[in-house]
Amino acid sequence: MTRQAEEHFCFSVWDQHTNFLKDRKFQDAYEFGLNSGHRYGRMPQEWQFYIACCLASHALHLDGDFVECGVNTGRMSLTICKYINFNSIDKSFYLFDTYCGMPEYQILESEREYALDYNKQWYPDVYELTKTNFSPFTRAIPVRGIVPDTLASVPIEAVCYLHLDMNIVASELLSCASFGISFREGQSCYLTITISNGTFCRNKRWTPLRKSKEPR
Ligand SMILES: C[S@@+](CC[C@H](N)C(=O)[O-])C[C@H]1O[C@@H](n2cnc3c(N)ncnc32)[C@H](O)[C@@H]1O
Repeated sequence: MTRQAEEHFCFSVWDQHTNFLKDRKFQDAYEFGLNSGHRYGRMPQEWQFYIACCLASHALHLDGDFVECGVNTGRMSLTICKYINFNSIDKSFYLFDTYCGMPEYQILESEREYALDYNKQWYPDVYELTKTNFSPFTRAIPVRGIVPDTLASVPIEAVCYLHLDMNIVASELLSCASFGISFREGQSCYLTITISNGTFCRNKRWTPLRKSKEPR
């Protein structure tokens, strides 16, 4: 064990064993998600993805379906599908995204220029690619369109796993409201939550894109 054991995305861990991140099953799943054709490169996000896999494993014991809002090419959700062998599970995985970036009307005027550049750089149209990526998982369903408008377009009765990762606060708050989560925060957030028993894991946002217009 070294003094600084691991550098992770937005945080470091000292003097702790992190060997669980080297677990073969997790590493295989993580590589599977990483190879999805996104533009992010290789960021040190094993910790976040591992925690999400743990929460997804726990969610298997709860009623309801899996949901991700903000999917892009499916890095996180493909990792989870592989890790928990989603084809062996009697649940659906609803994958909400515009698949082409943040909707303009949700962007604050003061962040407009930055956000539109961000869309151009990071969010090309990946709908067809993402459909192909998830095609091995018969009950993983990409739903294209703007969140929250699309949330009611599919028959979700209960949610056991919810990952919100849209980088824009209005749609994230509205998703929380739509799924019955009480959440007050002045910033956009990146969270993984299993609703039924309240297990909650959140990482604060890391880019300057913190605000968006008030929910409509
Ligand atoms: C940070 S990326 C998601 C990364 C993904 N979770 C992963 O594991 O790689 C944010 C995504 O949110 C989508 N997005 C942003 N605002 C949205 C909205 N209001 N409705 C639907 N999708 C949105 C973007 O198109 C983009 O693909």
